Amino acid sequence: MERDIKKLVAEMTLEEKAGMCSGADFWNLKPVERLGIPQVMVSDGPHGLRKQDGEADHLGLNASIKAVCFPAACATASSWDTEMLENMGKTLGEECQAENLSVLLGPAANIKRSPLCGRNFEYFSEDPYLTGKMAAAEIKGIQSWDVGTSMKHFAVNNQEYNRMSCSSNLSERAFREIYLTGFEMAVKEAQPKTLMCSYNKINGTYASENKHLLNDILRDEWGFEGYVMTDWGAVANRVKGIQAGLDLEMPASNGVNDAKIVAAVKDGSLDEALVDRAVENILKVLFSYVDNRHPEAVFDRDADHAKAIDCAAECAVLLENNGVLPLSGEKKIVYIGEYAEKPRFQGGGSSHINCSSVTSALESAKKKGRAVDYVKGFLADKDELDEKELAAAVEAAKAADIAVIFAGLPDVIESEGYDRKNMDMPGCQNRVIAEVAKVQPNTVVVLHNGSPVEAPWADDVAAILEMYLGGQGVGEACDRLLYGEVNPSGRLAETFPYHVEDNPSYLNFPGDGRDVSYGEDVFVGYRYYEKKAMPVRWAFGHGLSYTTFTYDNLRLSADSFNDDGTVTVSVDVTNSGNIAGKEVVQLYVADQNGTPQRPVKELKGFVKLALAPGETKTAEMTICPRALSFYHEGLGDWYAPSGTYEILVGHASDDIRLRKELTFTTAKKLPFVVDSATTIGELMADARTAPVVGEMMKKVSETFGMADGQEDAGNALGADPKEMMEAMIGGMPIKSLVSFAGGQVDEDELIAKLNACVK
Ligand code: BGC
Repeated sequence: MERDIKKLVAEMTLEEKAGMCSGADFWNLKPVERLGIPQVMVSDGPHGLRKQDGEADHLGLNASIKAVCFPAACATASSWDTEMLENMGKTLGEECQAENLSVLLGPAANIKRSPLCGRNFEYFSEDPYLTGKMAAAEIKGIQSWDVGTSMKHFAVNNQEYNRMSCSSNLSERAFREIYLTGFEMAVKEAQPKTLMCSYNKINGTYASENKHLLNDILRDEWGFEGYVMTDWGAVANRVKGIQAGLDLEMPASNGVNDAKIVAAVKDGSLDEALVDRAVENILKVLFSYVDNRHPEAVFDRDADHAKAIDCAAECAVLLENNGVLPLSGEKKIVYIGEYAEKPRFQGGGSSHINCSSVTSALESAKKKGRAVDYVKGFLADKDELDEKELAAAVEAAKAADIAVIFAGLPDVIESEGYDRKNMDMPGCQNRVIAEVAKVQPNTVVVLHNGSPVEAPWADDVAAILEMYLGGQGVGEACDRLLYGEVNPSGRLAETFPYHVEDNPSYLNFPGDGRDVSYGEDVFVGYRYYEKKAMPVRWAFGHGLSYTTFTYDNLRLSADSFNDDGTVTVSVDVTNSGNIAGKEVVQLYVADQNGTPQRPVKELKGFVKLALAPGETKTAEMTICPRALSFYHEGLGDWYAPSGTYEILVGHASDDIRLRKELTFTTAKKLPFVVDSATTIGELMADARTAPVVGEMMKKVSETFGMADGQEDAGNALGADPKEMMEAMIGGMPIKSLVSFAGGQVDEDELIAKLNACVK
C-alpha cells in the first residue's frame, strides 16, 4: 500500500508533530490514534533481541524476553563472511517480525581505535572497509524482513569514558577516511532505515545537533533516506537537533522537549517545515514496517540456536597451530579453565541477551562421548589464583597428551559504560597457562574476549584458538573446531599489538574527559603499525587453517584507468592441502606516488572462498577510483593523484602473495591559492606558475648566489651542488624571495600574477 505521508503530516497538529519526534516511553514511539498512526516498538540489538516487556533500561540491567544470542560483531567481523552475516541478519529480522519489533538497534559500526574501548566487542574492526561491508550485510539481512535497523553510534564514538559529553577532536580527513567510511559504505549499499547518533561531541558539536554530520554528509552527500534517532538520552538542545537533521529523540522526554519544539515554531526561531521533514522521515519508516507485517514469521529458538552455533564456528580465528590441532579422539585430553563449562560469549550493557540456552565446550564434548577430563584451574569471573587448582591443572596436564585451556576476559572487564584499564588477561589465567605450558608441550589456549589481549605465553603454547565473544553457541562451535569437524576460517579484523603502549592512540586515549584528540589521525590499527614497521603479535587479516592455500595468476582487467573507470582484479586460489577449507582472499592498495601521509597499504576488497581439497577457484574484486583515494581537505573531496598504485593480494596484511602495478589518471585539479608563504618548490612543480617563477629566479640568483666554498663542500660530501641549491631554494617562500631579490620584486604584484595563472 502506497501511503501519502506528506498528506498525513499535513493533517497533524503542531503538537502531534512535535510529539512524534520523541518516544512514548523507553522503547515505543508515540501513536496518533485519530490519524491511524500506531505505536511501534524498537529494541536492542545488535546480535540478538533484548526486548523488554517489563521494566525498561538501556544498560542491560533488567530482564528481557528469552532470545538467541548470536556472535557479537567482534566475532562476526572475523568471519569476513558477508553471506553468513546477511543470513544471521535474516534470522534476526524474522525474530523481530515475530516479536513485533519495528527496528532492531544495530549494527554498531564504530572503529576500534584502541583495544581499551569497553565496547569494542560490539564493533567490527579497526578497518573502515571491512566495517562497511559487514555492517551492510547485517543490515540487508535484517531489513529483508521489512524490519528497520539503526546503525550506530554515529559518529566517532570510540571510547566509553565520558562518552556522553566528551568531544572527539579529529581532522576532517581522519573523520572521512577512518570514522565515517564504514557508515558511508553501509548507507550507500544497504540503506539502513534508521541511524542512531552518538552521545559525544565531534570537534565541539554534539552529534545530535551536528548539521555537518546529520544533514550535509549523511543526507546530501550519501543519500540517506531514513530517520535519525538519538542514542538513549543524547539530546542536548532539541531545537538545534531538529535544525541539524535529528528526527527522533529516544527515549521519552515526557513532553519537555516536544514543548520546546512547539514554542520555537511559534516564536519563529524554528521553521515548521523542518519539523515536518523529521515527522515525514519517521512515518515513512514506521509505515514501511506497519504495512509489511509478516504473519508467517516465527521465533524458533531451537532452530536459531543451531544457526548461532554455525555462525560462531565461522568466526573463530586460529592464531597459532604447530599441528596439535585438530584434536584426535585417540588422545588423552584435559580441559582446564572454568570457561570450558561456563563460556564467556557476550559483552555487558545494552546488547546483553537473556539466552534461550547456552552450550559449553565441556558439555558438547560429553554429549559426543569424547574422552575429556576437566580441571577448573581458575574461575571465569575472578582474578584469584588458587594454588590447589593450579597444582591440579599442572598434574592433569602432565598426565594428559594434550591440555586445552579455556581462557578469556571476565564479564566485568568488557562492557558498555566504561573502558578497560589495560590489555592484560587476568593474572591467574596467565599463570596457569604458563605453568601448564612448562609441563605440557601440547598446550592449546582457547580465548573468549571481545578485543585484543596481551599474550605473554603465546610463544610457549602449541596452538591458540580465538573464539571472541561467539554467542550462545560458542561451546559447541569450539568443539567442532577443536576436533576438526569445522576447519577454522576466521581472520583477524584487528591487529593484536604486543603491548597496549604500542597502539597508536595510546598517548591520547581516553583524553581528559572533556576532549580526546585523535592525534594519530588516519594511522589507526595496521595503518600505523605498518608505517612504523613495528612488529605486532598478530597482524590484521591473520588466521590459520587446517589446510593450505596457494595463489596464482593475478590479473587486472586493465593496466590503467581513470576517474570514470573500474578495474577487475582476479586471482586463482587453490586448496593445496588434504581437507576442505575456506580462504579469505584479501586485496590491499598501496599508493606508490610518494603522496605524503598515506598508509603503506589499505584494505579495499576481500572474498571468502570455500575450497575442496585440490580445488581452484577464482576470486574477483573490483577497484574503483575511490579505492585509490584519500580525503583531500583542500579539495573537499576524495582524491587520488595520477600515477602508479600497487595491487596486493594475499592471505593476510603480513602475508601478501602476489602484486601488480596499476596506473591511474585523474582530471581532478587540486585547488592552488598562492600567498606569501607559498614556496618556490610548489610554484616550480606547477606548470602554470613555473615560467613566472623561473623569470623571478633570475633576479634572485643575482643577489642570492651560492656562497664561496659551498660548491666544493657539496662536492666533497658527494652531493650534487645543483640539487642542494634547488632543495634550499625550493623551500623559500615568496616573502623571502622578495627580500632576496633586493627590492626588484613587488610581493603583491607577484602574488596577484601567480594567482591569475592558477585560476
Ligand atoms: C546504547 C545504545 C543502545 C541504547 C538503548 C545506549 O546506552 O549506547 O547502543 O541501543 O542504549 O539500549
